Amino acid sequence: MSTDPNGPVYYEGFYHLFYQYNPKGATWGNIVWGHSVSKDLVNWEVLEPAIHPSKWFDIKGTWSGSITIVPGKGPVILYTGLNHNGTQLQNYALPRDSSDPYLREWVKPDDNPIVIPDYTMNGSAFRDPTTAWFSKDGLWRMIVGSQRDDVGIAYLYRSRDFKKWVKGKHPIHSRVSTGMWECPDLFPVSLTQGLESDDIGSNNTHVLKVSLDLKRYDYYTLGTYDPKKERYVPDGQSPDGWDGLRYDYGNFYASKTFFDYKKNRRILWGWANESDTIFDDMLKGWAGLQAIPRTVLLDSSKKQLLFWPVEEIESLRSDSIGMNSLEVKTGQRFEVEGITPAQADVEVTFEIGSLEKAETFDPSFKFKPLELCMRKGSNVTGGVGPFGLITLATPDLEEYTPVFFRVFKDPSTRKPKILMCSDARASSLKQDEGPRREEKMYKPSFAGFVDTDLHKGRIALRSLIDHSVVESFGALGKTVITSRVYPVKAIKKNAHLYVFNNGTQTVTVESLNAWSMKSPLKMH
Ligand code: FRU
Repeated sequence: MSTDPNGPVYYEGFYHLFYQYNPKGATWGNIVWGHSVSKDLVNWEVLEPAIHPSKWFDIKGTWSGSITIVPGKGPVILYTGLNHNGTQLQNYALPRDSSDPYLREWVKPDDNPIVIPDYTMNGSAFRDPTTAWFSKDGLWRMIVGSQRDDVGIAYLYRSRDFKKWVKGKHPIHSRVSTGMWECPDLFPVSLTQGLESDDIGSNNTHVLKVSLDLKRYDYYTLGTYDPKKERYVPDGQSPDGWDGLRYDYGNFYASKTFFDYKKNRRILWGWANESDTIFDDMLKGWAGLQAIPRTVLLDSSKKQLLFWPVEEIESLRSDSIGMNSLEVKTGQRFEVEGITPAQADVEVTFEIGSLEKAETFDPSFKFKPLELCMRKGSNVTGGVGPFGLITLATPDLEEYTPVFFRVFKDPSTRKPKILMCSDARASSLKQDEGPRREEKMYKPSFAGFVDTDLHKGRIALRSLIDHSVVESFGALGKTVITSRVYPVKAIKKNAHLYVFNNGTQTVTVESLNAWSMKSPLKMH
């Protein structure tokens, strides 16, 4: 099994990705830092694990962490180690030979651990150090996720030499009723390009992301970081808590960004867990995948982020088809033919026309997109929508995973309110195999709102489909939803792809481009 992405970095011509990895099976346990390298973020070579439990300060676990490129030292891993009684400590590791672009071998110096929880802290909830950033005052800083009672906390540490670390007077940020903050990430963003971590503290907007363990999703706020006060302050535009903005409204957790020096962009990695039975994972011999890396930019509204699959993924595109100006009336469904629907990249722009027929938005659903989506599924006729794609489908829709929009009128803002859903409820004929956790299969709906004013009456959707995963980007990356699905009939050549509309208002496919996707090369 692989889970959290760890220590992503671009170094000496290679992208490195490490990940929490169980070399012994398809369930969580025996965690080491798996290690893969790539020149293009698409074709990967798997190397030997980089670190595994071996010293007193990590004998019970080598958990998540990050990489920082430190002048004079090269790339340095910061990670959480568990000692014999499970206390979580922060450690560092160095490449044995920093001139080896593969960074195959790592050493853990004997002066570890570099940070231990003090008596005020919860030593079993203190983990996942971020990439450190260097500030004008000559100090490195990093943050570590934690929890005390129900308060989620990000502690700040600073260091002059990257060895001796001192805790800040107060956490960089904390929030009641959010529980454990796993895998925090803090970085600056701009409208046009990625920014380095060393720009933390600049006048740019900053992002603080935390992975909320209780509900297993990654939420973020935009805000400012005050380097003097050593505090992050959310800008208040979106809720700081359970109702906040998410990187992805689907199956996506423990994510982490890095700055890519090669192309001046910030790239996001995230773990898409399985939602089939653990028994099925054991049968197939693997579990957990890394979603396609996404670039991260600030949206022009400055109220949220924008995510988009890295351009390199387009190198896998092969056969393509295109359609233009196709009217889709109430109840109509058109097949997208000529590509391989089980492995495809689909970009479609819908023209909606008038919003007259749009249903009125019920404000009690303001923070409840999921409830709305579950009530108003892809088959519940609406005014404007539901319309969108039906992925991984059998022709009789015995199995299908629809990805769709539904547009409401919101009297309180006088703007359209757009719901986006990726609904796995009918994705597979497979059922739970029994009452035990190992036998549970999840076929969840996922949903988020898309904050767009429907520029010129259009809305775009892109879905990347790869057998058991559908990653969908609404409105050019404003709202993203990843679903894991396990069809038994709609597989390989028997999978189909459709455009549909179940709204009373006709929508037009202004353009649709779809490609078969080749498999990347995997080297061992
Ligand atoms: C998140 C997480 C981290 C931890 C790691 C252990 O999925 O729980 O907080 O470091 O996984 O594998």
